[in-house]
Amino acid sequence: MKGEIMKLSVISMTGVLVVILFASCGSPSAGKSGVGRWVSYSGDKDVEKRVDSVLALMTLEEKIGQMTQFSANWSITGPVMSDDFKPYLEKGLVGSIFNATSVEGIRKMQAVAVEKTRLGIPILFGQDVIHGYKTIFPIPLAEACSWDLEMMRRTAEIAAIEAASDGINWTFAPMVDIARDARWGRVMEGAGEDPYLGSRIAEARVIGFQGGADGKALGELHTLLATGKHLAAYGAAESGRDYNPAELSEHTLRNIYLPPYKAAIDAGVGTMMASFNEINGVPATADRWLMTDILRGEWDFTGFVVSDYTGINELVPHGVAEDEKQAAELAVNAGIDMDMTGATFIKYLSQSVREGKVSEEVINNAARRILEIKFLLGLFDNPYRYLDEERAKQNTMTPEFMETARKAVTSSVVLLKNDNRLLPITKESGKTVALIGPLMNDSINLNGEWAGLGDRNKSVPILKGLMEKYRDTSVKLLFAEGSSITGTTPGKIAEAVSVARRADLVIAAMGEDFNWSGEAAVRTDIRLPEPQRELLKALKATGKPLVLISLSGRPLDLSWEDENMDAILQAWFPGTQAGHGIADVIAGDYNPSGKLVMSFPRNVGQIPIYYNQKNTGRPVDLSNESTDYKSNYLDTSITPLYPFGYGLSYTTFSISNVSADKSSIRTTGDKMVVTAHVQNTGDIDGELVVQVYVRDLVGSVTRPVKELKGFQKTALKAGETKQVNFELKSEDLAFYGTDGKKKTEAGDFVLWVAQSSADNSNRIRFSANTPDNAR
Ligand code: NOJ
Repeated sequence: MKGEIMKLSVISMTGVLVVILFASCGSPSAGKSGVGRWVSYSGDKDVEKRVDSVLALMTLEEKIGQMTQFSANWSITGPVMSDDFKPYLEKGLVGSIFNATSVEGIRKMQAVAVEKTRLGIPILFGQDVIHGYKTIFPIPLAEACSWDLEMMRRTAEIAAIEAASDGINWTFAPMVDIARDARWGRVMEGAGEDPYLGSRIAEARVIGFQGGADGKALGELHTLLATGKHLAAYGAAESGRDYNPAELSEHTLRNIYLPPYKAAIDAGVGTMMASFNEINGVPATADRWLMTDILRGEWDFTGFVVSDYTGINELVPHGVAEDEKQAAELAVNAGIDMDMTGATFIKYLSQSVREGKVSEEVINNAARRILEIKFLLGLFDNPYRYLDEERAKQNTMTPEFMETARKAVTSSVVLLKNDNRLLPITKESGKTVALIGPLMNDSINLNGEWAGLGDRNKSVPILKGLMEKYRDTSVKLLFAEGSSITGTTPGKIAEAVSVARRADLVIAAMGEDFNWSGEAAVRTDIRLPEPQRELLKALKATGKPLVLISLSGRPLDLSWEDENMDAILQAWFPGTQAGHGIADVIAGDYNPSGKLVMSFPRNVGQIPIYYNQKNTGRPVDLSNESTDYKSNYLDTSITPLYPFGYGLSYTTFSISNVSADKSSIRTTGDKMVVTAHVQNTGDIDGELVVQVYVRDLVGSVTRPVKELKGFQKTALKAGETKQVNFELKSEDLAFYGTDGKKKTEAGDFVLWVAQSSADNSNRIRFSANTPDNAR
């Protein structure tokens, strides 16, 4: 603050305006140009005025500097600035820095920007805070399987508290890309295959990071500016190969891929990131239709758009720009406001403006959007406000954060199989359990990819969690590793087999290396690696009951395991509290409630596979999967091994008495209430994610065979019955037709209240009617 006032007295020689800029502080009013809905809170009017006052002082180059982000590239010995961007920083030509870490390091950089440059404009510090900063939560795909929106909001909030206490202002999350292809490594970072669930999770995460949907909390010290990414359809990369073109129709783009980005915007996300891929022959970074017509025109987005890492430079190898100068022009004219690390804007745009290839208005708008955010974060009021070592210590890995992380693990695991109720293994069971596998005593891999600044050595190994859980109980634990992730020897397998023979049952913790998923981590064989399968086969030969804990960043092909294991627990990469959370589930202290958010294929040849598929003109009758000229495979079923929405519990549930308060709703402005009875029919308390699906039977365009339209996670005591109610609005049935318009069409619908997308046992019919054809 002090530094800033001094700076002002220097600058004030250039005009009175500057004095107003820093002396004034907050009173409300709706914004005009450039300041939109998401910033409309008290102080709004001032933001606009204050941005104008700064812009008025800036040279063209300084404005372009605001549109430039560099990566800190800390040297391994400590927070030292990279020489590449130091000269830019010292001239006030850097708007944002990412990957800068530690309060001390960030303070150093901020001091250069604020105290050594002509205008002293503070820097925005960004980072990939994806599923935790120091306390690492389960990977986002895992958390999504909890279907617990409040939990996901809270873990994003904790990540924000920790990161903001360490000086970070901005996270490049949430990733809201729909993913239907398990080969693609980045499925770990999203919320799976469904646009409805993906949208609800996008909202929860944005609100968690930013502290609310109205932008008010952005100015507080425990929140982060969020980023909706990657616009658009990055998850549709052809063949699952990262960065590959997304080859899809506008119909699929609008109905399946775009809704979560829009949901993030409606939840007030401050920034959006362009994706690396192309659609329709146009890389997103150069796509004015996406970045301006849709994003700003249709969706009223008022924050700023950042390119992905060197995404602008990559327009050259994409083959749409001759050189980086043309790439910068294409990108800025399309609607990209900030260049992430590529330095194309700062190198070329001044010249492009002089040549008339980019208008000054385009530059002003981009710089304005970035400055607005800096004001909203309070950085102009005090550029050092996030930087407080004491706060960083207090707000890191607190007992409450650890407790939340542990609960997040328990609610994210999905029980895929549990023959003869092999699980749970209660503390009183008196069993001897052989603990085997490369991931049983591992901590490095359990945090998964994109694990912030989480210390990989701090995640609790499963072995440790189980040892603590069963300490001083009747359960006896034995351990042998048996193999590494990618290799084994006859000796290691023999040792594991001998340990298994001494036990009543075996628990094997197996799966992927953490960096087999995430960016540029694509696999064409998504089975467990061969050495682990060899070990499992040897264990199977002992005849002992087998439990597999599957740890992975993607749905795996578990077909062999499904046939040969007695129980399978899909635990993903669970983060810091891995071992404790998994032990809670194994011992039955938590009854699993997770439901898959991505279909598990029977083999890689079924991919892409998803529940909300189209019927085709030659649909397969699933009760008789004949292959005769049907949309079928010769060598396997068309159904997934485990479908979307599927997951077992240690208890059982039933759904009955599904009814609706009306049999017909109007196509606009109407709603109906659907009711069902849900019963816990077993002898253990549990939670069920009750899911509502609909099918629009006849449309002007083909409609999916099922679409999720609502869900509720309901806790039920053993034997308890509850009534659940769902509200279905006319707009929930809307879709984009061939005219590019979203509307609900009149016609007949089937509605299911179900335990998974493959559960057809409870259905009703209803219709939607326009006022003219009301029945
Ligand atoms: C590239 C990734 O695609 C993006 O998601 C990430 O935020 C940036 N790199 C920065 O690390």
